[in-house]
Amino acid sequence: MKIVLGPASAELGEKISQLTGLEKITVASRIFPDGESYLRLEGNVQDEHVVIVQTTCAPQDSRLIQLAFLAAAAKRNKAKKITAVVPYLAYARQDKIFLEGENVSIETIAAMLKAAGIDQIITINVHEVNALNLFTIPAKNISAIPLLAEYFIKKGIKKAFALSPDKGALYIAQQAQAVLGGEAGHLEKQRDRYTGQTSQTAKGLNVKGKTVIIFDDIISTGGTIVGAAKILSEQGAEHVYTACVHGLLIGDAEKRILDAGVEEIVATDSVPSKASKVSLAPLISQELKAL
Ligand code: R5P
Repeated sequence: MKIVLGPASAELGEKISQLTGLEKITVASRIFPDGESYLRLEGNVQDEHVVIVQTTCAPQDSRLIQLAFLAAAAKRNKAKKITAVVPYLAYARQDKIFLEGENVSIETIAAMLKAAGIDQIITINVHEVNALNLFTIPAKNISAIPLLAEYFIKKGIKKAFALSPDKGALYIAQQAQAVLGGEAGHLEKQRDRYTGQTSQTAKGLNVKGKTVIIFDDIISTGGTIVGAAKILSEQGAEHVYTACVHGLLIGDAEKRILDAGVEEIVATDSVPSKASKVSLAPLISQELKAL
């Protein structure tokens, strides 16, 4: 087995190679002046099980194409099997038709990746697990929430209240609760499908004087966390932190979250940023060792 360091996750791939002891294959990559991607595998993959590590956060479309090109290059160079480790799987939020005339985007992505030669996919905290049913190759989801919760334990925060910003994500708060040893709960979130605007409410939540960590799979514009932090402040929470697997942190999301009273934003290196304080390398390495 060899690890290909996709250009979007070269640092993470390097860490995985170090932890597993698996040989790494670097990638020569550049973007042409017109925006097209050039990629070349700098190593031999013949008869190897090749693991390509490539996240697909912004610019999503380029990174998906790069992943497809790397898989196709590995296939062309006679790799025996190709596993894609895609920490952040773009387009997983469009896993069904919400409004007439839409596409099921993740289904198209799945078909594209399979056509490029990928035999199986491993991803982390995919937004909607059902999205993986649309892949016709094996697709596995693993959770980094316990790793994020351990970060707070190491920081000395025990028995914090693990909160998810909506009911559907309560399982995330519960995974964190299992590590933190405190309570878990959720807010209610409603989304307008036409405008994308969301609103949140708290029902029967007792966080007065407590340390609360808001756990989510993704922080994008930060609107969800800002809304949750405002409610927690109104409800008298003493300390508020937030943790997510995929810190997309678009625009001034970080500033808005901190301005809303959140003391720290913690994310993984699924999406490299200064909030990436928890590496996925141990989790992915463990998974690869079991393959
Ligand atoms: C949505 O259901 C997700 O779990 C996140 O809560 C959402 O993607 C966060 O988006 P934003 O940061 O833009 O509010």
